[in-house]
Amino acid sequence: MEQYGTIGVFDSGLGGLTVLNAICAANEGLSIIYFGDTARVPYGPRTPDTIAHYARQDVRFLLSKKVEAIVVACGTVSAIALNSLRDEFDVPIIGVIEPACDAAAKVTVTNHICVIGTHATVNSHAYSDYLNANYPHCRVSGVECPLFVPLIENGFREDDPITQLTVERYLAPIRDTDVDTLILGCTHYPFLIEAIKRVLPGITLIDIGVALSEALQLTVPIKRTQDKNTVEYCFSDRETDFKRFDFQHLKNLPKGQIFAVNIEKY
Ligand code: DGL
Repeated sequence: MEQYGTIGVFDSGLGGLTVLNAICAANEGLSIIYFGDTARVPYGPRTPDTIAHYARQDVRFLLSKKVEAIVVACGTVSAIALNSLRDEFDVPIIGVIEPACDAAAKVTVTNHICVIGTHATVNSHAYSDYLNANYPHCRVSGVECPLFVPLIENGFREDDPITQLTVERYLAPIRDTDVDTLILGCTHYPFLIEAIKRVLPGITLIDIGVALSEALQLTVPIKRTQDKNTVEYCFSDRETDFKRFDFQHLKNLPKGQIFAVNIEKY
């Protein structure tokens, strides 16, 4: 099977660092270019056309850096634009939906899976399309949680009463269902795992980054090119914000050079 060299990982902003962190935790010796579109985040409330347009530019930028395979860390882009990106570009592209669904279908006992994500993700039906096609015995529900991303981006941690109340408001109705598996369908949600567990004790949580990182080498085998992982961090705006990000949850990220990118050029 062909093996790929440098991989590109992209997201609408900083949230994709949770996926990158999971990839780095599960692999050694990879050469990675990360792009976060911090100039245009969030993608979640935008139309499918706009999201697809941004995603194409993000991929073109990564290809200009000579990456050989691409990871779509963004839940929203994975839901809206993965198929069109695969049609347009001639490199292997992996998103978070297929690995997350495969992981969820493996563990559910009630066969009722719920996906939480941005407005665009939940309304795309990408998860239900994949689960219905591959695991027809599974039922899928979706809950959009548009306040989660701004809360996290603005530094509200999961023990903050505002965060706890918001998590309760969105997710408490799931308690009255037979859902036993919850896909955290957005890059930012790993920052809320403890708050979610408090509202939904006993539920199985699927972290899209962990699911993707477990499937990565099987789907898109990546060459180990050195001893340690190396990452170039590229952002389209406010690239120094990256240094202030909450690294508590991101312990596996290697240090790396930070670059500013004019994404409109691509
Ligand atoms: N990265 C996005 C996702 O995973 C969340 C932030 C946004 O809306 O752009 O869906």
